[in-house]
Amino acid sequence: MSRSPSILVAILSAFLFSISWVPAASNPVIQSNFLQCLSSHSQSFIPLYTRTNSSYSTILESTIDNLRCYSLAIPKPLLIVTPKQESHIQATVYCAKSYGLQFRVRSGGHDYEGQSYVADSPFIMLDMTNFRDINVSTEDNSAWVQAGAILGELYYKIAQKSKYLGFSAGLCPTIGVGGHFSGGGFGPMVRKYGVAADHIVDVRMVDGKGRILTRATMGEDLFWAIRGGGGASFGAIISYKISLVAVPPTVTVFSVSKTLEEGATKLLYRYQQVVDKLHEDLFIRVSILPTTNKSGNKTILVAFTSLYLGGSKELLPLIKKSFPELGVQSKDCKEMSWIQSVLYFAGYTNGESIDTLLNRTPQFRGYFKGKSDFVKEPIPETGLEGLWKNILEGDTFLMFFVPFGGKMNEISESSIPFPHRKGNIYNIQYVARWTEQENPQAGKHIAWIRKLYDYMAPYVSKNPRAAYLNYRDLDLGRNGHGETSYSQAVTWGSKYFKNNFNRLVQVKTKVDPGNFFRNEQSIPPLRMGAEGVLVNK
Ligand code: FDA
Repeated sequence: MSRSPSILVAILSAFLFSISWVPAASNPVIQSNFLQCLSSHSQSFIPLYTRTNSSYSTILESTIDNLRCYSLAIPKPLLIVTPKQESHIQATVYCAKSYGLQFRVRSGGHDYEGQSYVADSPFIMLDMTNFRDINVSTEDNSAWVQAGAILGELYYKIAQKSKYLGFSAGLCPTIGVGGHFSGGGFGPMVRKYGVAADHIVDVRMVDGKGRILTRATMGEDLFWAIRGGGGASFGAIISYKISLVAVPPTVTVFSVSKTLEEGATKLLYRYQQVVDKLHEDLFIRVSILPTTNKSGNKTILVAFTSLYLGGSKELLPLIKKSFPELGVQSKDCKEMSWIQSVLYFAGYTNGESIDTLLNRTPQFRGYFKGKSDFVKEPIPETGLEGLWKNILEGDTFLMFFVPFGGKMNEISESSIPFPHRKGNIYNIQYVARWTEQENPQAGKHIAWIRKLYDYMAPYVSKNPRAAYLNYRDLDLGRNGHGETSYSQAVTWGSKYFKNNFNRLVQVKTKVDPGNFFRNEQSIPPLRMGAEGVLVNK
């Protein structure tokens, strides 16, 4: 990294003055050193916000999706850096490391536990909001996408270039590319194409030495690790190159809902028997939520929402053959373009413009606690009945099933760190939600979802009870204050990564032995034992 001429120090100092920087009482020297370091390691003006800057809170709040992780009592960054050039990221990493400050990088801010903007010791937050260029190439059907872009922007840009190209990633358009791709990333095309991280073909990333690495310079081990192992354990990802996938000009969507009184239990039991074996062009997601029936009694609604990569004329015979119990009819089906189906799955079903996908305000912002599971055997009807009982006793609650099978069966568990492949019928996401008024009783809601999760134990994957990194759950365990250890981390690491955890630890030990890139569930490096041997402590 080049040192800047002194004139730039003067420019930066003037900038710092202009934002009325007053060091926080707790760490004035560290902050001052950090700022001086930044000014001497950047060729240009680095936008940053201190706690006394009037825009600090607006920037911090801008992409936070889970308000549970944002309260007065929760620690905030000493400084927020919003880089505009790659050299700003390099300087921030270099200086945070030099002055022993913790570091968090945030792209879309959708982390379930706020890991991109909360830390338990003084920290600098790098907010990638200005890094959102997307360059789609129809020559080799690829795209370079910067980490701060949201999925909606990516899908929009692809569709602008071609109606025959798409990308396999999550449903919610306001998710950030940076965190989502580095943890896996799945949505309606997962059965046809696998997860987003399966399609990363190159990357630009700043490592702990402040260097920019690409696939060619980082080596295949590190390139493997950041595709599903969580980028935050390894560096600050600037951008990914992805290979795009083929979509037909016409796709079909439908949604069919049943309450318990209408036979939802039997239908859901049947769903579990067929859903991972359906044609890979057909994806049927389930949403489960409490509702009120016509008689005014509480019940459960089970909604089946589907994407078929083709027209309704092909879909209807297919579904009649493979899942006739669902009773789908031609009146339920809507043909549209792939990009319109993206809007449909994001809940925009009233003819909204595709420009809606460019709105960066978090779509589902609220207070919530999430958890996840993977199901390998159909849950029996008695098990579902017990689940309904639990849900009806509780809170505002949502549950989603995302089916696997298809392409997911063909990709090996160790191809990338995301290991949840063959043998999984579907992924479960549990979400307990509450309002701001209810937030003083957050503990009650969290206790309730934990009880429901305990109830599900006999019906889901075991040894380990697997979980999905992108539905981060600190109940599975956490690193101690500023420390990580293999023996602690293996408890949640084996749930998120199965046998890939050990390889992730080896990569971490090699590329970040000092453990600069860490958070409550980061990959630990092995420590040097007394006899000069690396130990699993
Ligand atoms: P955020 O910025 O909070 O980062 C998440 C993690 O990644 C943090 O540890 C952060 O430090 C790290 N990180 C972020 N940017 C980085 C960078 N540039 N370099 C290195 N590390 C970086 N998932 C899914 O697979 N399918 C789905 O359909 C959905 N749907 C969904 C809906 C809603 C409403 C939410 C809140 C979440 C989802 N998710 C999901 C989960 C989502 O994939 C997960 O939360 C991602 O980590 C979010 O990535 P962001 O960049 O938005 O988060």
